[in-house]
Amino acid sequence: MTIKAVLISVLLVVSTAVFAQGKDLHDASCLQCHASLTAGKPDSLYTRPDRKISSLSALKKQVQGCSVAADTNWTNAQHEAVVNYLAKTFYHF
Ligand code: HEC
Repeated sequence: MTIKAVLISVLLVVSTAVFAQGKDLHDASCLQCHASLTAGKPDSLYTRPDRKISSLSALKKQVQGCSVAADTNWTNAQHEAVVNYLAKTFYHF
């Protein structure tokens, strides 16, 4: 493998890992309360037609606020990973 191919593989693995970490963190801390709000369909909070969040900065703020409710104690990197997961999976700004 060339150096370039190695670097590209490493980058792919890292970004996939960050994405998976965001989903895992989200599912562990956030799903339960959202499920109770949505009759067991937590994703629908992010996909409903009248959802509240329409920008990346609003998403960051909401995740921050909800993290307090969920008592997460996440690092900045973990917070970023969850924002990234939600933005890529549901919001597509
Ligand atoms: C204790 C309950 C609770 C927990 C735990 C919780 N949330 Fe929320 N979340 C809410 C409520 C309530 C709303 C607002 C619903 C509404 O306005 O209809 C909300 C809304 C949201 C929205 C906006 C949805 C939209 O309308 O676009 C996002 C994003 C979100 N939460 C992320 C998170 C994340 C990330 C976590 C985990 C750290 C989390 N929430 C944990 C209660 C919670």
